[in-house]
Amino acid sequence: MSEAVVPIEDRGYQFADGVYDVLKFHGRKPVRLAQHLERLAESCAGLLIEGVPSAAEWRNIISELADRSELSHDVAEQTILYIQVTRGVAPRLHVPPIPQPPPTVIAYFKAAPRYATELRENGVAMISHPDERWSRCNIKSIALLPVVLAKHAARAAGVFEALLVRDGIVTEGGASNAFCVRDGVVFTHPEGPKILSGVTRGIVLDAARRAGIEVREVPVTLEEFRAADEAFLSSTTMNVMPVTRLDGRPIGDGRVGAITRHLAETVEEIIQDELTLEP
Ligand SMILES: Cc1ncc(COP(=O)(O)O)c(C=O)c1O
Repeated sequence: MSEAVVPIEDRGYQFADGVYDVLKFHGRKPVRLAQHLERLAESCAGLLIEGVPSAAEWRNIISELADRSELSHDVAEQTILYIQVTRGVAPRLHVPPIPQPPPTVIAYFKAAPRYATELRENGVAMISHPDERWSRCNIKSIALLPVVLAKHAARAAGVFEALLVRDGIVTEGGASNAFCVRDGVVFTHPEGPKILSGVTRGIVLDAARRAGIEVREVPVTLEEFRAADEAFLSSTTMNVMPVTRLDGRPIGDGRVGAITRHLAETVEEIIQDELTLEP
């Protein structure tokens, strides 16, 4: 990988004309591989990128990459797989050539980030921030500048993550889906072009079903989110991360809530259960 190069006219490099995905591996076992590959295919289709590997080809590529990377078989070892597909290399013109060049496909494993137990025990703080992204956030585009700036603002405020707000409605976290809990009911933004449909969001919904907890996929205002009893985020790297402060004020009593805790445990259970099913 140290010898890989990016041609200066790669359309990902010049136009952010590409998509990506991030998967978690426990040893050699991926979490919800089919869903990630499906989302990647949808992202490529959304940008009309042609000639991308099929799901079966991706499985072969990933398997070979795992071998070549000498990925551990120990399920206690967690790794992230980063995949990126751009519309390939062509003379710099906004309009893509016909036929399109072959896409530039890259994938590499790296150590999964570790989050301090203290964060999971006490929850993290967030600031609200305007959601300045485009109107097709369901595509996992590599054009991430609005998120870069939102996370910059979060870091400057000394908090963990930005909570994105569009027209007064909480959409999601900078790189995570956002949930709040009110009177025992879990609320999260509905799927559609305003959010990325997180694979972990899907696991949270499954966990709620398993736990018999009601979920309403409806828009929630920032004011409602601030007044919630509990809040949490979900993503591939974090699974569930409790949120206990927003814009300098506690959420609920400022401690990790019982429903958040229960869902976090159930998400871990589902992931462990599914690892035994993967080939
Ligand atoms: C904007 C956004 N929303 C949600 C997520 C969570 O998605 P997943 O659970 O598939 O990691 C991510 C992950 O990077 C993200 O970038």
